[in-house]
Amino acid sequence: MEQIKILVSTMTGTAELVADEIAEALQAKGKEAEILLMDDLEAAVFEDDAAYVICTSTYGQGDVPDNGQAFMDDLEETKPDLAGIKYGVFALGDITYDQTFCNAGVLFDKMLSELGAARIGEILKHDASSGELPEDQAGEWAEEWLDSLVGT
Ligand SMILES: Cc1cc2nc3c(=O)[nH]c(=O)nc-3n(C[C@H](O)[C@H](O)[C@H](O)COP(=O)(O)O)c2cc1C
Repeated sequence: MEQIKILVSTMTGTAELVADEIAEALQAKGKEAEILLMDDLEAAVFEDDAAYVICTSTYGQGDVPDNGQAFMDDLEETKPDLAGIKYGVFALGDITYDQTFCNAGVLFDKMLSELGAARIGEILKHDASSGELPEDQAGEWAEEWLDSLVGT
């Protein structure tokens, strides 16, 4: 799997900073990494010859940020067969919202697995109130995720 697409849903841009770090870490390991904001994405973005990272924050009552909502709706409506697709999830949230902590990442994980895709590794759930910046965790997470991906 040489090509990795990082799909970003964000309200204030933090998830995009995380995606930059993930892309850099993957490129340093010789992979092609492309960042795509979810704004204009459709379910057809998933192709067999790529792997995917969902990078999303959470807003509202545990919702996907506005720029990812149409993409999520399209997945739900068109229900593409994602058998053979592999993905990881880097979720940004804040434990202050304890009932809905990182829920958008969980929602994407549920949706993709219901459609037949296989998650590689654990969901990283970043807590904005931890004092640690999510972009500082992103490179290490991406390297571990890539090792797991290559091992599958
Ligand atoms: C109005 C508002 C609502 C939020 N709701 C949640 C939530 O329900 N669950 C959660 O885990 N984080 C929630 N967060 C925290 C954000 O997801 C977190 O700060 C994240 O790092 C923002 O990333 P972004 O800049 O990519 O949008 C909320 C933040 C704000 C400002």
